[in-house]
Amino acid sequence: MRIGKQDQAFTAIAASDAESVTVRGLDLCDDLIGKINFTDYFWLLVLGEKPTAAQKDMMDACLVAIAEHGLVPSVQAARMTLAAGPEAWQGAMAAGLLGMGSVVAGSSESAGRYLADVLAKAEAEGTDVETAAVASLRELKAQRKKVPGLGHPQHSTGDPRADRLLQIADDLGVSGRYIETLRVLAKHAPTIINRPLPINVSGAIPATILDAGWPLEALKAVPLLARTAGLAAHLYEESLRSIGFIMSHHADLAITYDGRESARAAKSKMG
Ligand SMILES: CC(C)(COP(=O)(O)OP(=O)(O)OC[C@H]1O[C@@H](n2cnc3c(N)ncnc32)[C@H](O)[C@@H]1OP(=O)(O)O)[C@@H](O)C(=O)NCCC(=O)NCCS
Repeated sequence: MRIGKQDQAFTAIAASDAESVTVRGLDLCDDLIGKINFTDYFWLLVLGEKPTAAQKDMMDACLVAIAEHGLVPSVQAARMTLAAGPEAWQGAMAAGLLGMGSVVAGSSESAGRYLADVLAKAEAEGTDVETAAVASLRELKAQRKKVPGLGHPQHSTGDPRADRLLQIADDLGVSGRYIETLRVLAKHAPTIINRPLPINVSGAIPATILDAGWPLEALKAVPLLARTAGLAAHLYEESLRSIGFIMSHHADLAITYDGRESARAAKSKMG
């Protein structure tokens, strides 16, 4: 059974034969191993070209910014999974990555798409970015939806990671339309949404890396790759000094059962 109309049976990423492995037109052993750092290689793998020095520095900064943030939900999921299945690092790692959604940890993608939508709206309607941003914020407010890339439960007065990334983008000279859009949104959001809403790291990552030339369609790869490194640290520590069951015990204590009581439970309470 054939599904769909795909007729381009090609891949341009890699190929191998008995003696060689070719990656993006370069020989893995002669040109890459021992000769390229991993961030350049990541860029080359995804885009087919090595990054410029500024693109590499921006990517490094984003990866370092999002790799680790303590015992966040995805890390807890990973560590509890490893405690329950110490032989399954891959399962525990996957458990951590699966939790990287649009609310926390994986929200760079939705924020990037939102910035692109605001820019597209400005272009389609022939307005400046500020006009499109204000209209979009009013729309989100009316729909009671959250502004992607703004707000943080802990860094409520300003996410220091975001400020640092934006400063690096300015210093590297990569700042462009996406960062302009994010800054305009952050300027107007507190008044329109009526609460302090600082730029968070998941707003700064897409703005800075999109301005550096990374594609919107591959945005999600950035936090996923970075958190894989952070998760490796947590899984190694978990294997040496486990806290997975301590966390699950505290979750159990923190949450009260308010469902219907069984006859046996009621009887046992009465003694
Ligand atoms: C990250 C986030 C979950 C933190 O939320 P929080 O500070 O714990 O706040 P809550 O989700 O409890 O919301 C509290 C109030 O602030 C509002 N709020 C919080 N972030 C908001 C945002 N980005 N846009 C609009 N309103 C927001 C909520 O709607 C809520 O309003 P209400 O009291 O009228 O219902 C939230 O800011 C958010 O969803 N941001 C967008 C997604 C994002 O960028 N995530 C990346 C985080 S690094």
